[in-house]
This record gives sequence, C-alpha cells and structure tokens, in this order.
Amino acid sequence: MPDGREVNRFTLRNAHGMTATVCEFGAVLVSLEMPDRHGQVADLTLGYDSLEGWLGNTSYLGATVGRFGNRIRDGKFSLDGNTYQLATNNTPGGIPCHLHGGVKGFDRVLWKGEVRDNSVIFRYLSPDGEEGYPGNLDVTVTYTLTEENELLWEAKAVTDAPTIVNLVHHTYWNLSGDPRQSINDHFLQINADHFLPTDAGLIPTGERAVVAGTPMDFTTPRLIGERVNADFEALHLAGGYDHCWVLRAGDGMRLAASLFHPPTGRKMEVFTDQPAVQCYGGNFLDGSILGKNGHSYAHRTGLCLETENFPDAPNQPSFPSATLRPGEVYQHKMIHRFTTEPTV
Ligand code: BGC
Repeated sequence: MPDGREVNRFTLRNAHGMTATVCEFGAVLVSLEMPDRHGQVADLTLGYDSLEGWLGNTSYLGATVGRFGNRIRDGKFSLDGNTYQLATNNTPGGIPCHLHGGVKGFDRVLWKGEVRDNSVIFRYLSPDGEEGYPGNLDVTVTYTLTEENELLWEAKAVTDAPTIVNLVHHTYWNLSGDPRQSINDHFLQINADHFLPTDAGLIPTGERAVVAGTPMDFTTPRLIGERVNADFEALHLAGGYDHCWVLRAGDGMRLAASLFHPPTGRKMEVFTDQPAVQCYGGNFLDGSILGKNGHSYAHRTGLCLETENFPDAPNQPSFPSATLRPGEVYQHKMIHRFTTEPTV
C-alpha cells in the first residue's frame, strides 16, 4: 500500500480448470477464469493488472461494497430517533446521494485475509463513525471455490450499536471472456415479477412496478441488447438497465438471475438469500478505465448482478429493514454456479 502495509492476494483452484483470485484490498474478486464449451479458458471479470490499478478503482470493479450498497437519499437516515448524515459521493441527474458506502467504502479499505481449505476469509473492523455510520462493525467476507464449479461469496457482520448494513458483491461479468465485446449479446433471466422504479436521482420512488409487458420483463431469458434502448421511462432515467428487481418470495437460497453467452456456451446462475438483485449493465462505463491487458472498458461491456436489500431501505418503511442491532448477525450468501451448454 502507499503507506507501506502489505497486501496479499490468493488464488483458489478446482480440478475443472477454474481459478478465482481474490485480494485483501477491497476484498475484491481480481479474476475468475473458466473454460468455455471447447475448453478455452478465459477471465470473465473486469478489473486491473496491478495493485496500482485497484487503488484507483472508482467503479467498484469486483468489489465488496459496504456498509450500504447502492443509494441512500440525501445520504441521510434516522435510527432510534437519531439522524445520521453520510457522505454524498454521487450525483445522478445532479441530485446528491450516498452511494456504495461513501468516499472510502469497504471497496477501498485493506482487509485481512486467511486461507481455510478451499476458502479465503477476509475480515475488516469498521470503526464507529466511519463514513458517518454508527457502531463498530465486525465484518467477514468468505470466498469459496467448489468442485461443483461454484464461486461462493458470503458476508457476515455484527455491531455493538444499532446501525444499517447492506453488503454487496460488485463484479462486472462478461462471459465472452473478451471485455472488448458488449454484454448486449448475453441472455439474461431474472426471477422477479416486479422492479423498483426510481426518480431522476436513481432513488426508488417506493413503488413496486410489474415487469410484465415492459422491457424490464426477464422472467424468461431475453437478450440484454434487445430492449435496452427501448422508449421506456425507467431506462431513460438510468441510461439502460440499472435497477433493483424484487425477487419472487421464498425462503433461503433461491435463483436470482442467470446469464448465458451462446457463442461460448458459458452460463452463470446466481443464487441468493437476499430479497432483491440490482442488475447494472455498465451504462456508466465510457472507455476511460484502463483495465487488464491494456483493454479499456467501453459502454456496456460488463454486467453486475448484485444481490441485495432494497436501495434506500433505511428511509422507506415499506422496504425490508436494513437495521442491524447488537446481538444480531447480518448474513448474506450468494452462489455463482458456472456451467457450459453444448452448441444448439
Ligand atoms: C449502481 C450504479 C452505479 C454503479 C457504480 C451500481 O451498483 O447500480 O448506478 O453507477 O454501481 O459502479
């Protein structure tokens, strides 16, 4: 690190040609390599070649985002009669809000990593008042690569004072393995009948809108590019897909979304225990990031599938609670399951 602290990275491998590399800075997923249907191995994630690159990662590539993933209106919330002001580090439509944990969120801190079997466990102690959040928060994030070709990301947190938590994993996926290609030719399916419309500041209005009959309907697999430029208010406001889909109700782990790239046959299914998934189609990528192998990341060359609680939940009583109290354990599990499909 610039201040001399050591940074470690770890590579997990399985017997099927998959590798996952993770790093203590930001608890990021540095890369995920996987064969296509012909055995051709490629890295399916956007990122950087060196720590210097990751230190300048302002687009949350591969990151563990916290304490609160996505946006909080005006960067303000109240809890037990106290009002807290967080950093307003994002201004969609010229309207300031809090995004992804603030100026120095969990994506920009140094975690401590430890190897256990086929897992790496990262730990970070976030002090009371960090980025304006109350309570000392003790956070662990565990990455596991299984012999079933699954990458697990599991987050846990405990606090010593009432606070809010919504930890999110923010990898940008491109199943082609070539980040110069758009994700518009990927098929996406989302297990959701409703999405959360936003205002111009990309904060949910509180409405749960029906997806049926709109370009937000991914209840069956659809090409991302097919309707991304449709004349539809939600797409205009966000510049494409960048919304929270409310997952069909259910208990425990369930399918949130699946992504399929026909030319390579690669498929990724995302399972979660969370109530929602943010699908962000890389609309803000504009070629200015110089990523791995000297490639710059152009518009819509990565898709984030961020399982989560609803954005702005602390300010919206009709949304699931994001409050964590002493004695409780915040838990969030996501499984990325990789397969290949034969040529059809
Ligand atoms: C959000 C986008 C935001 C992006 C930043 C996503 O999770 O939904 O609105 O611009 O993160 O990289």
